[in-house]
Amino acid sequence: ALVVGRRVRSRRKWKRVVGVLKELEESCETTVGRLKQVVDAMAVEMHAGLASEGGSKLKMLLTFVDNLPSGSEKGIFYALDLGGTNFRVLRVELGGQRSDLDPDVEQQPIPEQLMTGRSEDLFDFIASSLYQFVEKNDSVQSPITKLLGFTFSFPVKQTSVSSGVLIKWTKGFAIRDMVEKEVAGALQQALTRKGLNMRVSVLVNDTVGTLALGHYHDADIVAAVIIGTGTNACYWERTDAIIKCQGLLTTSGGMVVNMEWGNFWSSHLPRTSYDIKLDAESPNPNDQGFEKMISGMYLGDIVRRVILRMSEESDVFGPVSSRLYLPFTLRTPLMAAMHEDDSPELTQVARILKDVLDIPDIPLKARKLVVKICDVVTRRAARLAAAGIVGILKKIGRDGSGGITGGRSRSDIKMRRTAVAVEGSLYTQYTMFREYLHEALNEILGEDIARHVVIIVTEDGSGTGAALLAASHSSENVNNIQ
Ligand code: GLC
Repeated sequence: ALVVGRRVRSRRKWKRVVGVLKELEESCETTVGRLKQVVDAMAVEMHAGLASEGGSKLKMLLTFVDNLPSGSEKGIFYALDLGGTNFRVLRVELGGQRSDLDPDVEQQPIPEQLMTGRSEDLFDFIASSLYQFVEKNDSVQSPITKLLGFTFSFPVKQTSVSSGVLIKWTKGFAIRDMVEKEVAGALQQALTRKGLNMRVSVLVNDTVGTLALGHYHDADIVAAVIIGTGTNACYWERTDAIIKCQGLLTTSGGMVVNMEWGNFWSSHLPRTSYDIKLDAESPNPNDQGFEKMISGMYLGDIVRRVILRMSEESDVFGPVSSRLYLPFTLRTPLMAAMHEDDSPELTQVARILKDVLDIPDIPLKARKLVVKICDVVTRRAARLAAAGIVGILKKIGRDGSGGITGGRSRSDIKMRRTAVAVEGSLYTQYTMFREYLHEALNEILGEDIARHVVIIVTEDGSGTGAALLAASHSSENVNNIQ
């Protein structure tokens, strides 16, 4: 009788846990129908954000980047890339012909206290690193002003291609005295304090750098997407479609628009109770809703919340580990490692659960459950990112619907090759994420159209692209430097 009782109890506790998993799966559901609604919502919000300031949660920020590097740029340019867990300095030599760029790059983590302290300390730290980097490669004493592309991956209201003010912080940064302050100016002052003869000649978002590098190598690139710590996209827009800024004239007739899609919101997004709690407990509640479902900063934490709930409802993970209550203990790279553990006994999963979450010795069945949770959370993220991409294609008439078909059947469509540059660790380092994203692109667009849409991975575009833009937007200085 004892054995039977134990079996019944065990069956009951598994039933409860399976119930939690089922509920998660249902609330994360991304059928093609639902994804198409997200596509439409994205395109509608893009219109609204371009129509008027504050017209949508999508800010659709002007970048004043009105030409993209062509390959004819010449000279030596620097870039500084700030916006995630690391910051990078780089130097690139352009020879006037399109070539494989081989920049010198150095990367450093940003000390955590600098992410939430005073802006002067952060910029002085960056200026010092840049100084050392320049010293290694060039003469710091040179009378020729060096040009610097500054990639600053946060929402900025630009006043020109080289200036703008920070609208708000995202991704865990919280330096209060910077908000609404001139970003390039703050860096320029730090460079001057350091005695470095260098001018911040462009200020760009990381998506814009990625677009620039992508376009340098492949002229069919129309948009760029970042899926890393945060997520965002930018694309090339006709100036006459930027209604909120009437009279905007550029020689090219277009401009790159930084969508800040991390802040996109729609009632069609599949939201769970875990998302709601994560948002409420975050430093920026009600902001960056799309980002909180998709990007690397948050995916691991959604998984932690699900495991915590299961752990509270049953003892399949043993007694509730106190580590499960700590936000952000389970980082996304470890979540990916668990998800992609292909050993029969799921030894990686066991190790990570033990080392990171202090959950030792759980049966294989429970480890499989963890893999399944990772799968559900990542699949939703990747599919939503795919819907976002198709939303952009729809807005610019490259999704194979509407105008281009001229009423012919889908198989007759002569669609132009359309390329999208993608960067960020989630896409490049997490195979399952990448596969789910591609699968969803195929499902939403249909294979006939999807064949014409290519995803191009750029390397270090956010930094190298900024150096290229420093070149392409500073023709008079290019001549000085040669
Ligand atoms: C966040 C920032 C955005 C950036 C993205 C990717 O969403 O607000 O500017 O492009 O992260 O780094």
